[in-house]
Amino acid sequence: MLKQEINELLTETGAGTPMGELFRQYWIPALLAEELPENDSPPVRVKLLSERLIAFRDSQGHYGLIDEFCAHRGVSLWFGNVYDGGLRCSYHGWKYNVTGQCVDVPSEPPGSRLCSKIKLKSYPLVKVGGILWTYMGVPESQPELPQFEFVRVPPEQCHTSKRWQESNWLQALEGGIDSSHVSWLHSDGLKNDPLFKGAQGNKYNVSDMRPFFEVAQADAGLFIGARRNAEEDHYYWRITPWVMPSFTLIPPRGDHPVHGHFWVPIDDANCWVFTWDYHSTRPLTEGELQAMKDGHGVHNEYEPGTWRPLQNKDNDYLMDREAQRRGDTFSGVRGIAMQDASLQESMGPIVDRTQEKLVSTDAGIIQARKQLENAVKELRDQGTTPPGVNPEHHKVRSAAVVLPKDQPFIEGASDALTVIPGVKHASV
Ligand code: FES
Ligand SMILES: [Fe+2]
Repeated sequence: MLKQEINELLTETGAGTPMGELFRQYWIPALLAEELPENDSPPVRVKLLSERLIAFRDSQGHYGLIDEFCAHRGVSLWFGNVYDGGLRCSYHGWKYNVTGQCVDVPSEPPGSRLCSKIKLKSYPLVKVGGILWTYMGVPESQPELPQFEFVRVPPEQCHTSKRWQESNWLQALEGGIDSSHVSWLHSDGLKNDPLFKGAQGNKYNVSDMRPFFEVAQADAGLFIGARRNAEEDHYYWRITPWVMPSFTLIPPRGDHPVHGHFWVPIDDANCWVFTWDYHSTRPLTEGELQAMKDGHGVHNEYEPGTWRPLQNKDNDYLMDREAQRRGDTFSGVRGIAMQDASLQESMGPIVDRTQEKLVSTDAGIIQARKQLENAVKELRDQGTTPPGVNPEHHKVRSAAVVLPKDQPFIEGASDALTVIPGVKHASV
């Protein structure tokens, strides 16, 4: 349970809010690189942290993220035309470059210096892996680029997608660090999903429905260990890292690729869920890639152009009561991503955390909230740079391991929780 004022502190991310300022310390995913596939691609609307922006790629391949609205009379630059080194507004032809600088006001007489005084708000936009990342803070504090393993492996080892979720970012993140729901909500996926099934560890998942949770401190977040019974004298541990503010990795299964998410606020009632699958040491197979594109694993099918899932709240997520009754799916909703999204959206745009009744399996969520609250207050009150800004903090892995019962997971899995390039992630 949280006090209402803390719930607001952690969930509101517009400009000038304390959590909004925290997010503005980090490089965050803004859009997929494939949304701007070539020079002079059509511009893309991007709303982040309640700011309406336009992303474009100019004739030289430079990326820009600028205010959505033209400085002249405020029309959306989404209608504009990208060519000849800039984005030209469709109304009266004012032209902007990727820094937001106005470089042409065609109606002005030759020699006019008007446009040099006009500059739209802009943020850097940089391709790392399959994602275009932005940093929305003050330029003097711009950190080094992200070092998460999924964007640093060769491109053939990773696939990234995104979806629009109609809920606040925090309840989405909390779903990502709550692995106790997997044995229930996703029980069908463990048996049937092509990107989950067949792993030795799955049998521990479904045979022990009462995981014990242990949370260990990481440099910039947490390692959340879920412990289930394995063969005698051993436990099966699934270890989920969370890196501030909102990066999570799902523990792996067998030789399947590793799934992960970055939860990015669009505004206070919506978030982007960036989703990837990567393998630490081998290319993804054709079959795996096809499964991801078909919406299996933690990916989903979506409406072209909007990134809104085909299963959404307007069609009750295509819930199938018969499938639920037969036990084909526990909730009646098909697909792991949409099982999560349906329940997290059902909580309302911002869940009322003053009313919840937390239990021991919520230990990771409780600890993550505390760390976020501390970091937000230390930034607001003392200007302290939060954990996770330093890209060394990004070099974490999830792991699934079987350890002797008397070995603490954070000791037994310590090597497995660090990125070692060229060495395969630990998985059962
Ligand atoms: S509104 Fe954009 S040029 Fe006039
Ligand atoms: Fe889930």
